[in-house]
Parts: sequence; C-alpha cells; structure tokens
Amino acid sequence: MSLPVPIAQPGPRPGRRLHGRRQGHALKPRAGRLVAELLPRIAVPADGPLDARLLFGDDRPLALEIGFGKGEHLAFQAARAPGTGFIGCEPYLNGVAGLLAAVADQGLANVRIHMGDALDVLERLAPASLATAWLLHPDPWPKARHAKRRFVNPGPLDLLARALAPGGLFRIATDHPLYLRHVLVTMQQRRDFAWTARTPEDWTRVPQDWPDTRFARKARGLGHEIWRLEYRRR
Ligand SMILES: C[S@@+](CC[C@H](N)C(=O)[O-])C[C@H]1O[C@@H](n2cnc3c(N)ncnc32)[C@H](O)[C@@H]1O
Repeated sequence: MSLPVPIAQPGPRPGRRLHGRRQGHALKPRAGRLVAELLPRIAVPADGPLDARLLFGDDRPLALEIGFGKGEHLAFQAARAPGTGFIGCEPYLNGVAGLLAAVADQGLANVRIHMGDALDVLERLAPASLATAWLLHPDPWPKARHAKRRFVNPGPLDLLARALAPGGLFRIATDHPLYLRHVLVTMQQRRDFAWTARTPEDWTRVPQDWPDTRFARKARGLGHEIWRLEYRRR
C-alpha cells in the first residue's frame, strides 16, 4: 500500500517559477515515513539567513547540490566528507525520499535538505560560505524560448558567485551538447569563475570523487557522451 503524503510545497514567487515535476509515483510506506518524520528534522529552515552554524551548529565548510535527483551523488560526497555540511536542493518529492533513505541507511549526520528551488537557498546563504557546488545533469531546456529557465544563466550564477568562497569549486555535468555549449559560452563571459581545465586530458579523465549519477547512467545507456566541467570561484 502507498501512503499519500501531504507536503507543503513552496509556492510560486513573484517573477520566478520552478518548472519540472514535483511528484512521480505515490510513495512507498517507508519513504512516506521518512518524509513525514526524518525530513522535518533535517530540513533547511523555511526562511531567514543561512550559515554553517545555523544549519550544523559549528563553522564547518559547506557544500551544495542543486537538483540532486534521487540523491546518490550527495550521499556519496557526504559519506566521504563527514566534516563538511551538505545542503541538497530538490523539489521532486520522490527524489527527496531517495536521499532520505540514504541518510537513514548510512547514518549521515551532515546532510540538510531543501525540498524546493535551489535559488531560495542561494539567496539566503551567507556570502562566501560555500566550498563546493554541484549542478549535475540539469534540465537542458533545449528550446530557445525556454533558455531562460536554465540554471546556468546570469541571475542564478550571480547568486552562486556570491555564496561561493574564493577558490570554491562549481562542478557541472551534462550529456546534452546544446547545454554544454551554453555552459562554455556563458561561463567564459564571467570574470568571477575560471575553468580549471588545462589540458585535453581534463576532458576525458574522470576524477575519483565524481561518480556517475542516475541521469549519467541513463545517458550512457543511450550512448551519450558525458561532459564534466569544473570552475573555480576567483
Ligand atoms: C535531469 S534531473 C538530474 C538529477 C540528478 N542531478 C542526476 O544527475 O541524476 C534535474 C533535477 O534538477 C531538479 N531541479 C530543477 N530545477 C531546480 C531548481 N531550481 N532547484 C533545485 N532543483 C532543481 C529537478 O527536479 C530534477 O530532479
């Protein structure tokens, strides 16, 4: 039997709308319990400024994943860096349930979840508070008339640049050629981010701390190439 889970969804904000699915299939009983019981304990507060002390009770470095999907990548990173505080943002309820299961199964004490738009977190984070941010296989919005919905655009990038500490890393993965081109062109125009690639090898070598996500595996299954880009906050 599946449990219907009533969840307060973040409402639309003036001038901004979150696009994409909020829920897929009905949650299984355990997932429903995790959403009802664990999520409120590790949810990012709904409003007010955010920093490591408020979220984790100390001054640890922070990392952010934008659109974590089912959360495997975030759980992987959180398990290998217990001294870092991880903030995951994802509006898709079934994805949030996936990360909650990993948090419970692996006993991860360093994860906080915002079930909603990453921009809501970015605009409240203390300046220069993030050490790392990931944007892995973002929705490509390939049609020109939807291009303004892409995360890699001046408004979201300004917010991210403000929240990232100097030297902080922004990692992007995509299997969509159009999005790749869009990222390369958009990021090239920014003075506040520098591409860390130096040699052609940087295109093909996969860093050990960069595992495939669910979407990466799906893309590989379809025969797509995957591109990984890393930028350093100047
Ligand atoms: C194509 S999926 C990729 C999921 C995951 N990163 C992966 O690689 O398997 C893109 C995800 O980004 C989420 N998303 C889209 N816009 C977002 C936003 N503004 N803030 C947070 N998540 C967002 C979607 O709900 C979706 O789960």
